[in-house]
Amino acid sequence: MRATRINHRRVLTGAALVLILTLGLLVNAAVARAEEEAVYVTLDGRSLLLDVPGQIREGRTLVPFRAIFEALGADVSWDPMAQTVYAERGDDTLALTIGSRVVEWRGSMIKVDAPPVIVDGRTLVPLRLVAQAMGLHVTWNGEERTVELETSPADRNLARGIQIVHDKGCMVCHTINGAGGQIGPDLTGVGARYSEEWLHTWLENPQAVRTGSRMPNFRFTDTDLTAVVTYLETLQ
Ligand code: HEC
Repeated sequence: MRATRINHRRVLTGAALVLILTLGLLVNAAVARAEEEAVYVTLDGRSLLLDVPGQIREGRTLVPFRAIFEALGADVSWDPMAQTVYAERGDDTLALTIGSRVVEWRGSMIKVDAPPVIVDGRTLVPLRLVAQAMGLHVTWNGEERTVELETSPADRNLARGIQIVHDKGCMVCHTINGAGGQIGPDLTGVGARYSEEWLHTWLENPQAVRTGSRMPNFRFTDTDLTAVVTYLETLQ
């Protein structure tokens, strides 16, 4: 009788120990995962101070709205009733509503593949949208889990291409990397689908390639054409 009772107690103590150890491991794993998933941002080589780090959700990178747009010199505001954040810098006006894939950019409705979310009281928005809406070059530094944003990359041809695609508002009609309109075809991967030569001919005069095309003829100069094609070729 006595021996059995001791055994029971031992079994209980053993089980409690296993439980505590398991819980400890789970907590550790959760902390490690949160650290592993945090995403940092630099702008032109400067680290941005983020009160809430960015994160990757279902393969899409989300970054803190206010910190980034303020660093870019935009005016930022938040309408709690409409659950909408606004940014404005010159012609670039942006309105994003929490949980919604529909975004207003320069007065046009476009779509994003990842809706904005609130994390710890801060709004996180899709990085690719930010980059395109503001004409930024993006590099992902996997080792440091850092998104490197540049207002003007060192490759001047590429920098000019990004700027033109931004200024002409190609994103109003075309989705690029998950953000944009649906009037024209999705340009994600366009650099893999078409040769430089084809893209050059197309942009020079779309109607000469496809009669009745709704793609505008921007009357690009040769230098501008080369720059835009350089950028489109990076969309692999
Ligand atoms: C007003 C809307 C609109 C704007 C702005 C616009 N496009 Fe287009 N684009 C289209 C449409 C529509 C097509 C499909 C062409 C057709 O009618 O056959 C197209 C086709 C293309 C194609 C061919 C893609 C394919 O898969 O066939 C490329 C490349 C392209 N556009 C690049 C651009 C670039 C770069 C810009 C900005 C400089 C731009 N577009 C701006 C509407 C637009």
